Amino acid sequence: MSINTPEELASMRAAGAIVRRMIEAMKRAVRPGVTTAELDEVGATVMREHGAQSAPQLVYKFPGVNCISLNEEAVHGIPGERAVREGDLVKLDVTIEKDGFMADAAETVPVGEVPEESQRLVACAERAFHKAMLVARAGFRVSEIGRVVEREVRRNGFSVIRDLGGHGIGRTIHEPPRVPNYADPAASQILTEGLVITVEPIIAAGSGRAIVAKDGWTVCTADRRPSAHYEHTLVITKGEPILLTAA
Ligand code: CO
Repeated sequence: MSINTPEELASMRAAGAIVRRMIEAMKRAVRPGVTTAELDEVGATVMREHGAQSAPQLVYKFPGVNCISLNEEAVHGIPGERAVREGDLVKLDVTIEKDGFMADAAETVPVGEVPEESQRLVACAERAFHKAMLVARAGFRVSEIGRVVEREVRRNGFSVIRDLGGHGIGRTIHEPPRVPNYADPAASQILTEGLVITVEPIIAAGSGRAIVAKDGWTVCTADRRPSAHYEHTLVITKGEPILLTAA
């Protein structure tokens, strides 16, 4: 969506704030032994307290409230009985609907001591996001975001998962434009003031090639190398974007 009124901005801020609270609550609950279903319930409780609904459930009938993906699972992991272990990377991806508006964010949480490569991967996804904020501005092409993200990821010896990327958002989860994490010439749209998009580097230690698991939802790295994800919903302005899902 493109935000045209202060009321729309306030509604999107409210949706974004709920996403942030859910992620923070789940982060605090991450420890060895907790199952992804238990983490999902922590987020769901906060969501219900705020009168919000799971957007993936509403829009896609996703079999969970939140997408929770471990290690080689990049996105769309289904919460279940799998227990988190020391050394894992837990990807918490939260999208909710509140009063007809949707916001989306993701964070990667290391469980206890993780391998050095995993630490670097997590930091790289976050850094690539922040570098992209310099071009996520009115007047730039959407493809500039991907150019900046992929440059940073490659510089660190990692890959972007090209099948996955950011998107417009607001009245539903996935709206135009696509926001690829590479310099896709097809992403030629010029960013305009008020446009709401997600920017979300989804990166991997290996080739970055992705496959869908047997459950029909979970997207995994084909080589089973770990992946990391960092995402916010933001509003494009002439200057620094407004992060709706930040603390
Ligand atoms: Co997203």
